[in-house]
Parts: sequence; C-alpha cells; structure tokens
Amino acid sequence: MKQHHVVFLPSGSTCLAEDGSDILAAARLADEPIETICGGKMTCGKCRVNVREGYFDDYGFMSASTHLTPMTEAEKQYGDEHAFCPDDRLACQAKIQGDVVIFVPEESRVGRFIPLKNIRAKNVKINAAVKRYFIDLPLSIEKGGERCDILTSELESRFGLKNLSIDKYVYEIFRKTFKESSRKATLTVWDDREIINFESGRHKEAYGLAVDVGTTSIACYLCDLNSGKILATKSALNPQIKYGEDVITRIAYAQDHPGGQKDMETAVISCINRLTDDATRQNGVSSRDVSEAVLVGNTVMHHIFLGLDILPLGRVPFKPAVKHPVNIKARDIGLNILPSANTHVLPVEAGYVGADNVGVLIAEEPYKQDETSLVIDIGTNGEIALGNRHRILSASCATGPAFEGANIKFGMRAAPGAIDRLRIDKQTLDVRFTVIGHSQWHTDLSPKDVKARGICGSGIIDAAAEMLQTGIIKKNGSFDKTLNTSRLRINTGGKAEFVIARAEETAIGKEITITQEDIRALQLAKAALYSGAKILIKKLKIDKPDRIILAGAFGTIIDIKRARAIGMFPDCGQDKILAVGNAAGEGACMALLSREKRKEAEQIARDVEYIELTSEPDFQKVFIDATHFPQIKGKFLY
Ligand code: FES
Repeated sequence: MKQHHVVFLPSGSTCLAEDGSDILAAARLADEPIETICGGKMTCGKCRVNVREGYFDDYGFMSASTHLTPMTEAEKQYGDEHAFCPDDRLACQAKIQGDVVIFVPEESRVGRFIPLKNIRAKNVKINAAVKRYFIDLPLSIEKGGERCDILTSELESRFGLKNLSIDKYVYEIFRKTFKESSRKATLTVWDDREIINFESGRHKEAYGLAVDVGTTSIACYLCDLNSGKILATKSALNPQIKYGEDVITRIAYAQDHPGGQKDMETAVISCINRLTDDATRQNGVSSRDVSEAVLVGNTVMHHIFLGLDILPLGRVPFKPAVKHPVNIKARDIGLNILPSANTHVLPVEAGYVGADNVGVLIAEEPYKQDETSLVIDIGTNGEIALGNRHRILSASCATGPAFEGANIKFGMRAAPGAIDRLRIDKQTLDVRFTVIGHSQWHTDLSPKDVKARGICGSGIIDAAAEMLQTGIIKKNGSFDKTLNTSRLRINTGGKAEFVIARAEETAIGKEITITQEDIRALQLAKAALYSGAKILIKKLKIDKPDRIILAGAFGTIIDIKRARAIGMFPDCGQDKILAVGNAAGEGACMALLSREKRKEAEQIARDVEYIELTSEPDFQKVFIDATHFPQIKGKFLY
C-alpha cells in the first residue's frame, strides 16, 4: 500500500500514513492529540486543521491541499456554516493522497491534562485479599520430590489454610530462587485459596493497586496493604480519547474499525502500566511487588479492559456481557504487576451504570443510612443513585459530554487555558473570568497573560447562571436580543451570542462566545440529570432527598450555588450538598483493602434497582419541564 509523509505543526510530530487514510488516523499514528469529540460524525467541528502549501526544506517534500481528497458537499456546508478559512479541513473527513504538512490550531489540540487530586484515605478495617505468611521450610524439602506440596501442607498445618491451589508462577519462581541454605520463606496467598508468590527470606511489605478507569481520565492509587495508606496517586488522560470523546463514539469506533476495540484495550493497559511504573518507582519498589489490583470503571471501560465485546452495549437492551465481579490474572490482560496477581473488577449494575457507580456506593454507603441520599456522579454521562438502608434506585442520565465542554462552540475540557469561573456585572454586563492556570480574575492580569483557549463545564454553568441573573437569557433559555451591550450580537445565522472573552484576551486569536446553541446544549444536559433524579425521587415516594453527594472531579470544581440556580439537580439546601471528589477511586481502594467491602459491592450491585428512564411514562414531560431554568415551575435561587 502506498504511503505518504504527514507532518503536524507546531509539534513537528510525523508519520507515514497509508494512502486514503484520514488525517485523524494519521494523527493517531503520529501520537498527535487532535480533539475528536463527535468521533467523525461532523457535528462538533473540533477537529478543524489547516493544510500548509509549498515546499518544505526541512521535510524535503511539497505539501498542497490537493494532496487531500476534495471536500464533500457535507464538509463544504459545515465549513460555510462555521466560517472556515479556505485551507481549513476537518481532520475526520479529509483523506490523505500525497505528502502533507498539517497545522493543528490551538483550539483543536487536546488540552493538557490536570492531574487528579489525592483522594481521602477513608477508614476501613483492613482485611486485604492478599496476605503474607512467613514459614521455615522443613529439612525434608532438601530431598526434592514434591517440593511445592510442602508449601501447601506447611500453610495448612501452621495457619489452617486448607485446599490451597498454587499458581504456575510459584513453581517457576520456587525452582529458580529456592536455596537449600536458606529455609526462611515468605508466601503470598490470595483470598485464602491460592499461593501466588514465593520469596526467600522474610518480606512484610505488601502492595496493591486501585484503578479507576474513567472515560476521560485514568487514576491509579498505590496502596500499602498492611497500613491502608495510599502511597502514590498517578493519573493521566485516558488515551482512548483519540478514538472518541465519550463511550458512544468509542463503541462506534469499535464498530467501524476492525481491531478498533483491541487498540483501545491496548491503549488503556499501557496507560495503567505507565502509571503503575511511576507510582512504584516513586516509592522505591518494583511493579512486580504489587500483588493485587482492583479496578472500577463504567460498563464500557470495564468491558474494554476485560476484552469483552462492547458492541452490545450500544444497542437495546444495552446488556452487559457480565455483571458479577471478575477476577483475572494480571498476565492474562498484560498488566505489568506480579504476573500471578489477580485483578479484581467490581461488579456492574447495568449497561450504563457500571463498576464505578458501585465504587461510589461502597465509599459513600447510602445503603447503611436512614436519611436518603442522592448520589450524582457526573462524568461523560451522569450516573445517579437515590436511596437509604431500605431501598436504592439507580439510573443513567444521558447528559452527553456538554459538562465536559463538548457540543459547546468554544467548549473544552478543564485544562490550562479553560475559563472555569465567570461573573457578569448586573449594570454594565461586563465579564470577569478566571482561566485554569491563574487564580486571579482576568481583569487583574494583563490581556496578553490571560490566554483563554475556551470554556470548560464549570465555566459554562457559571455563564448560564450569570446570564440568567442579569437577564441576558430568559427562563426558557432564549436570549433577550433587545439588550443594549456590545457583547451581545447576532451571528450570520441570525442567532444571538454573548462575548465572554475579547480576541486580545484569548490564545486562539478570536473572541470566545456563548451561543444560543451552547445554552440549548446545556439545557439538554442539565434536564437529563434533573429529570433522572426527579423520576427516582417519585419512584421512592419522597419529596426531596435529605442530602446530595456530588462524586467525581467535576463535582469539586463546579460552583454549587450556580449549579442550583440553573436547576442542575433537585434542591435540598446548599448546606446539604457535598462534593466528595473521586468516590469511585475511593471505593476501589476500599475494595482493595477489605474483603468485606468486596462482599458489600457484590451485594449492593445485586440489590440496586436499575431504572430505565426512557421507559418511564412521564419521563418526556419531566424532561421537557426541566429544560427551563431552573425548571418550568422552579424558583431561581440566587
Ligand atoms: Fe471531526 Fe467531530 S467534526 S471529529
């Protein structure tokens, strides 16, 4: 197959792309991070790139727009509607048929990842599945013969551990490392049923890894299995982002590309291995010293990790291949820890309520309390649970990725350069905002230092709340076009937009605005969350929850007052709303440290009643009412 040179600027990354492959595929090959929020459906426009023309001495070839396939009618129309420049192309549409140099503008680059914060080390009675036993090997072992059987009989006679099996790795390592001169040994036993390691001498330390695979980020926590201490937290952007922003586009990618799911599996495992390596090195231990891992993730991430087909998760009835917990050997999935170690994957509840929600539940334990909690985990989809010690309901809300900045004209993930907080002056309608990377309001910085690249989810929520409060938008989300301010204008399509950042304050060389379509996207996202919670409240026959727990990193960065004001969730009073950070990761750590917690996880995954919201007769009405700010009958709380 013919190949062509592709160079991406300004990074300079290169690859040899197959004739006919699209620019996005070449970018994946070159490890060039280009936004691809809609996964090539031509609805997001975030993959816009620019073809450079001319002879490039440094690369030794001629680049031209004719080295790409001509624009289709659909791409042309998209470009006209979104004011593209003549050499602009959508990376997901343009196919390579010659050598090209492609410039990736600032707004099309995947934002730099902000490491996740440490999680709370919650109190849990330590009873890890992995235990270490010290034995003195008997003299009879010198005579050879059934040497490994001596290990099991020693553990049975001295510690009462019966019917132990032995992982094949132990035979291998025992043969290699046993010295007749040294009779002291440490055996690692998993779940009182299997010997997974043999080491000469006494070794007390035991390490485990808790992993939370989110659609956007991956977090690994290295834990001391004796003390329960979290020794290191490492996180990274989920490398699957290059295959699609959300789980739906990743399922579509797997469907459209043979071997696509395997590529995503390889990407996630390599990322976990890299984070594990960083965490263990930081603590002066080897990744082989990690003798168990516990993993949580939404159902699609769970299936990709386990190599289970994700296509059925994309069609009715969205049935997971497996719901119960899974134990799988590290070596069988390519995890670089002790090869014989098990990876325990928490159970899932349904196609769109996964092991991450189970992790949140065992961390927050609403099922042990009298008061009723509404637990909301806002990721690229919203998983919610409502209940108390008597009954727990759960649901998945199709919020879409708007809270992560997708489907928003200048939306971006929470990364350096994103506008994350915003205020509008009631009299002048002037805007103040902060940008991730600076703690001061932008008005306290010189314009050249502001360098806003876009607006992230918390900034969008702030913008909507402030625009409502100042009358720029009405309760139904439409703009008041009669306002007299230079920040409000009507774009070429006749739609209103409000200027948040002036061109000189941005790193993208143009104004950052909030458009009517952005407000509509936010209305749909918040209505999905609100109506899901409302349906569960009705099912549980209560008026409102006693408290709301916001799980996930997003919950910690949003302004709760403004989220309440736009009606993101049913209200129960500001002081009853608690942001708890990465509770799914905490749940994974707890399940790593406590076998009782694993049993709880299994039990709660069975007990939770999953409600399919779209099958509820009044869902449509509740949803439509909830598209208003804060809802059709709700009071604006400010
Ligand atoms: Fe190309 Fe969305 S338009 S990825």
